[in-house]
Amino acid sequence: VLGTSRRVLLVTDENVLRLGYAGRVVAALEDSECRVDTVVLPAGEATKSPETLMQLWHRAVACGLERGDIVAGVGGGVIGDIAGMLAATYMRGIALVLVPTTLLAQVDAAIGGKVGIDFAGVKNALGAFHPARSVLIDPAVLSTLPRERVAEGAAEMIKIAVMFAEDLFADFERIHEVDTIVERTDLIRRSAALKAEIVSRDPTEHGVRRYLNFGHTIGHGIEAASGYRLAHGAAVAIGMLAEMRMAVMREICPPSLEDRLRMVLDRLALPGIVKGLNPELVYQAMLGDKKRSGARFWFAVPATTGGGTLIPVSDDDARLAIAIALGRNEWYEFSSCMAQI
Ligand SMILES: NC(=O)c1ccc[n+]([C@@H]2O[C@H](COP(=O)([O-])OP(=O)(O)OC[C@H]3O[C@@H](n4cnc5c(N)ncnc54)[C@H](O)[C@@H]3O)[C@@H](O)[C@H]2O)c1
Ligand SMILES: [Zn+2]
Repeated sequence: VLGTSRRVLLVTDENVLRLGYAGRVVAALEDSECRVDTVVLPAGEATKSPETLMQLWHRAVACGLERGDIVAGVGGGVIGDIAGMLAATYMRGIALVLVPTTLLAQVDAAIGGKVGIDFAGVKNALGAFHPARSVLIDPAVLSTLPRERVAEGAAEMIKIAVMFAEDLFADFERIHEVDTIVERTDLIRRSAALKAEIVSRDPTEHGVRRYLNFGHTIGHGIEAASGYRLAHGAAVAIGMLAEMRMAVMREICPPSLEDRLRMVLDRLALPGIVKGLNPELVYQAMLGDKKRSGARFWFAVPATTGGGTLIPVSDDDARLAIAIALGRNEWYEFSSCMAQI
């Protein structure tokens, strides 16, 4: 996959190193006579910073990385994004190979070419499109992933299923336990392939790729308003339900689909609402979000399973959707799963 006798700058985090996954990739690379330098970064979102990128640039120069060489990212979405930024910028762009080790990275973050870092308190404020040359997915590494992180990745799989693949969504309806997902290599493969297909049809996000934002307009708003204490996948689950409610109210989406989605998310212990957030902060975070264009917000919602659409949302309706997400609307008082901030 990588070719031989290349120099590889391998970027990973301390957990992925400790679990032995980075070492296995290094060994495989050395077997094919690549010269490997390894950078081990602290685990966590704070690593996606300009300071880390600067450190990586210095390392790349110090180890003599050249245009024909490779940056490899072995880890979750954080490592993929920062390694991707190194690959996108170094010598105007060199090859990137990703070995995603979280479910979220395997089915979502590693696929689609978006790389980035956080800046001035804004998540992914600086970034580029720099698709990986190869993405190597081994679901066996997911056995060490905590259950909540599995559920987070599952939220993105469910998003893609409800938008694009009725049969995949139906498979999720038959899952009753989070733990079984990591064994379902068929579902992981299917979700990753679906994302790859969608982004290859619309790499720059002007068409069908926008449907992947289902749940993310409200989701990003509540995630930011929580100061990122609410996990992304949980925020997306809440966002999907609130955005879908708007679609049901406009009779774009059948109520039965909303019930099915709530059931699937509930079984994976993903929250339906979040209590304790200030709605105004959520609204302000949504205003700052890049998915607002013109005078309105746009929600990407499923019309049926396997058919997405974009709906314009007025300020008033956006506030209603926020109220739904925060459990301040009677519709959602009975949601069984709740996140507390
Ligand atoms: N580029 C994109 O298109 C895109 C899409 C979605 C998310 N993202 C980004 O991805 C990031 C989130 O990704 P993430 O959820 O993978 O977070 P992450 O990279 O922080 O990984 C989560 C945690 O799991 C640990 N970990 C990794 N693999 C493990 C394993 N196999 N077993 C046990 N622990 C393991 C990590 O060390 C880390 O502590 C965010 O920064 C987000 O912005 C990017
Ligand atoms: Zn997401």
